[in-house]
Amino acid sequence: MEKPEQKKTEALAAIAAAETLDALEAQRVAALGKQGWISALLKTLGAMSPEERQAQGPKIHSLREEVQSALADRKAALEQAALDARLAAETLDLSLPAPESPRGSVHPIGQVMDELAEIFADLGFSVATGPEIEDDWHNFTALNMPESHPARAMHDTFYFPDTAPNGGRMLLRTHTSPVQVRTMKAHGAPVRIIAPGRVYRSDSDATHTPMFHQVEGLVIDKGIHLGHLKWTLETFLKAFFEREDIVLRLRPSYFPFTEPSVEVDVGFAIENGRRVLGGSGDAPGHGWMELLGSGMVNRRVIEMSGLDPDVWQGFAFGVGVDRLAMLKYGMDDLRAFFDGDVRWLRHYGFSAFDQPTISGGIGATGGGARA
Ligand code: DAH
Repeated sequence: MEKPEQKKTEALAAIAAAETLDALEAQRVAALGKQGWISALLKTLGAMSPEERQAQGPKIHSLREEVQSALADRKAALEQAALDARLAAETLDLSLPAPESPRGSVHPIGQVMDELAEIFADLGFSVATGPEIEDDWHNFTALNMPESHPARAMHDTFYFPDTAPNGGRMLLRTHTSPVQVRTMKAHGAPVRIIAPGRVYRSDSDATHTPMFHQVEGLVIDKGIHLGHLKWTLETFLKAFFEREDIVLRLRPSYFPFTEPSVEVDVGFAIENGRRVLGGSGDAPGHGWMELLGSGMVNRRVIEMSGLDPDVWQGFAFGVGVDRLAMLKYGMDDLRAFFDGDVRWLRHYGFSAFDQPTISGGIGATGGGARA
């Protein structure tokens, strides 16, 4: 066993000196491979006498184990060294900005709805919701539009074939006004809510889509009058458009659910061929644009909503959210709002970080339209 002992010493030295996994593998093949010297030694056992085999067998096996464990130890050491080197080389700076800008954006409708909620929350309003699949009692009758009322025909309503539990017809709500009735019925008075949401009418052109958005406002309390309505709308529109020079004009109008009813116009100027809100519409070069409907809640509506109209009075208003968004952020085709075109969304969408707040500012700065 002189020679094997000698070979073993050499092999262990070579294994310890192997600098790469490839060099180490060469050492393994030289010793333990098919043609390896340890494999050859093992083969000699077959030709030995039993006594000789008993003497040599354990020596050869322990020699093989020694070499095998030296190979395994060196392999582990080389792999650990390789890992350490990679960890040292591949540093990752988590404070760097993400290499690709985020793809998602907040739709202008969502952004404007958040702005509205923020402004009205500051005025003490909470947000109420109602079903988009309504019955004709809440959508029409309770809003003082009985079966034969001509205003019903003006709404281009989508009806369902189903009958409502209360015997009426089911429909897609044509406005957010039924939320007035539902809120008064559910919570009584006083009330101070806005109700933003989707509404539906069978209508389609550049400024009308079959689905669009409205926000309803409702205040019910004691001694509420038109002055409260005007102040609230003025405060809201100044905050929303971020201009102190917003001027409103209240015109007498008619809605079945308000009495008296007022249509609210807002003054604008023409700048660079575009309408820019602000200033009196009566000034030279200025004009008035119709913005929203409102009025003192009709006592019949208060009554049908389960409250005593001799005790409780209030005002209501309804305005198109899409229209507010178009006026504020400068889009001119409503249909594009609902096409889901990513180029449009990238241009007009807002960063998720652009949360409107009273303190930080209601106007988003991150919208593609302004960036
Ligand atoms: N519901 C009306 C519409 O969709 C808008 C409206 C007008 C709502 C006057 C009101 C209101 O609350 O007082 O055309």
